[in-house]
Amino acid sequence: MIQFKGHHVKRVTSTQDRARRLAKQGALAGTYVMADVQSRGRGRLERSWSSPRGGIYATLILRPHLKPNGVSQLTYVAALAVAKGLKAFLKTTPKVKWPNDVLVNRKKIAGILTQVEMNAEVEFVLIGMGINVNRQRFPKSFLHPPTSLNLETSKDHDLKTVFNRVLKEFNLYYDLFQRKGFGAIQSEWEKYSMLTDQEVTVKDFDREIRGKYKGIDEKGGLMLETSEKKIVHVYAGDLICF
Ligand code: BTN
Repeated sequence: MIQFKGHHVKRVTSTQDRARRLAKQGALAGTYVMADVQSRGRGRLERSWSSPRGGIYATLILRPHLKPNGVSQLTYVAALAVAKGLKAFLKTTPKVKWPNDVLVNRKKIAGILTQVEMNAEVEFVLIGMGINVNRQRFPKSFLHPPTSLNLETSKDHDLKTVFNRVLKEFNLYYDLFQRKGFGAIQSEWEKYSMLTDQEVTVKDFDREIRGKYKGIDEKGGLMLETSEKKIVHVYAGDLICF
């Protein structure tokens, strides 16, 4: 099991930057940085992640024995941990959505940003988690309307209590991943996924691919069955489901 060691800071540009610096200085796996506010929080695909007080903004350092193309598997471990961790505070079960979203009632409550530092081997991995907890107002978002624990439960929640619950689930899933491999995470993912056999579209810049959702592959890709019954693997883009 990972021993977590937290660095709590009031304000950072991004917890990814601070965690990266600590990892470069030799911080152990399990070290994390949690900030009250980020001035330049970022999301997947170079998007910004608005980060005022009231949310969980944290980056966890891991030093896994993984090939570089296996690193995205950790995004799924983290998204599951967030989904299961948040379930404890909600009446409904959160869903995971490829590649890195956690949704409640089809609204986005959390996102994961995975970054890797490598030479020939993986040196360390940064798992960034942004979780909307007590926030009630959000900027307009183009894909999923955002939500928070507060909006879903009509009350505030203690950020540390929520994050500790997520870390506990992370430890359990990470342990499962190490003992049983990614197959165990894939089947857990399908339990929390809202899409199996649904018709979906992936948009990647000017490209659009349509197909039936058939799960995730070992490299973190999405598997879609096209109208010609061919399975295609998609590694980038936004998943649009209707
Ligand atoms: C996404 O949905 O695109 C991922 C969002 C990840 C946001 C978190 S908040 C903590 C960490 N620091 C960042 O700058 N980003 C991640």
